[in-house]
Amino acid sequence: MWQTRLCSLLEIQYPIVQGGLQWLSTPEFTAAVSNSGALGVLAAAMYPEEEELRAAIRRLRSLTDKPFGVNLTLLPHLGLRERVQRHVRVIIEEKVPVVETSGRNPQEIISLLKEGGVKIIHKVPNVRFARKAEELGVDAVAVVGWECAGHPGMDEVGGLVLIPKVARSVRIPVLAAGGIADGHGLVAALALGAEGVLLGTRLMATEECPVHSRFKEWLVRAQETDTLVVGKKMGDPVRVLRNAVAEALLAEEEAGLAGEALDRAMRQKIHRRALLEGDLETATFTVGQVVGLIREIAGVETVIKGMVAEAEEIVQGLARLLTL
Ligand SMILES: Cc1cc2nc3c(=O)[nH]c(=O)nc-3n(C[C@H](O)[C@H](O)[C@H](O)COP(=O)(O)O)c2cc1C
Repeated sequence: MWQTRLCSLLEIQYPIVQGGLQWLSTPEFTAAVSNSGALGVLAAAMYPEEEELRAAIRRLRSLTDKPFGVNLTLLPHLGLRERVQRHVRVIIEEKVPVVETSGRNPQEIISLLKEGGVKIIHKVPNVRFARKAEELGVDAVAVVGWECAGHPGMDEVGGLVLIPKVARSVRIPVLAAGGIADGHGLVAALALGAEGVLLGTRLMATEECPVHSRFKEWLVRAQETDTLVVGKKMGDPVRVLRNAVAEALLAEEEAGLAGEALDRAMRQKIHRRALLEGDLETATFTVGQVVGLIREIAGVETVIKGMVAEAEEIVQGLARLLTL
C-alpha cells in the first residue's frame, strides 16, 4: 500500500500523476493513466470551446471510474483570461476532482475552484512560487527541476536541489517533476521529501499516447543530451527536442533575437506538427532530459506498475542494507 498524503488527497492508488501534455492528453490516453492507478490529466487547452471541453470530460468519465484531473495552463498566450474562466465553469459543473494549474499565478481562479470542491495542484519552478501557491490555498505543489520538459523557469536549478528545498519550505504535499522515468526516480523523489511524482516525457513513449510513432522512436533512441532550452531571452524558457530547427532557433536567440520576434519564431518552430505528424525536420516540441532514460515503448499500465514494482524492490534492497 502506498500511503503518502498525496494518495489520500487525490484518492489514487500510487503517488504518481501525469502532467498535462498539450496535444496529447486526450480522454483515451488520460483514462489509461487513471485506470493504471495513477492520476491521468486532460489538457484543457486542446479544447478551447466550453462544449468541447465538456464533451472530452464526459468521454473520459465514460472510460474510467477512477479520479482524474484537468490541466489549466495559464501562460498568457495560451490561457486567455476568458477562456480560462469558461473552462473553470465547465470543470466545476462537471465535478472534475482535480485541476493542475501552471504557467502563472492561479490566484484569480483558486476561490472558484475551491468553492466548487476541486482540488488544485499548482506547478512551479522555484521555492518562491511554491510558497506563494501555498499561501493562496492550493492543495499541493508540483515542482519542476531544470531537467524537465515544458517550462523549467529561469533559475537553472536541478531537481536534486530544488525538490528538498521546496519540500522544506511548504507544509502541503509536494510532487517532484522533471527527470523521472522509473522506480529509481520515484524512490529518489520520496527520499528527497516529495510525496509523489509527476511524469511527462516518460508517458509519451507508451502505446496509448497519441504522439506520432516517429517521435516515440526518437524518444527511445535519444540521449540525455538531446534537448536544449530556448526562450530565456523572453523570460519564458522551454526545453525542446534538439534537432536542426531547435539549434537554429537557439543560434538566433544567442545572436540577439528577443522579445516578440523570438516569441514569434518559437511559435513557428515549436509546433504540433512534430508531435502529431512526426515532422522532426522542420518542427520541434518540448521533451525533458529524461529521454536519456527511456528504453522502450510499453503500455501505460506496464510503465506505471513497472515503476511501482521497481520502487518497492529498491526500498526493500535499501532496508536490507541497514539490517546487514
Ligand atoms: C509533449 C509535452 C507537452 C506538455 N504540455 C504541457 C501543458 O500543456 N501544460 C503543462 O502545464 N505542462 C505541460 N508539459 C509539462 C508536463 O506536464 C510536465 O510538467 C513535465 O513533462 C515534467 O517533466 P518530465 O518530462 O521530465 O517528466 C508538457 C510536457 C510534454 C513532454
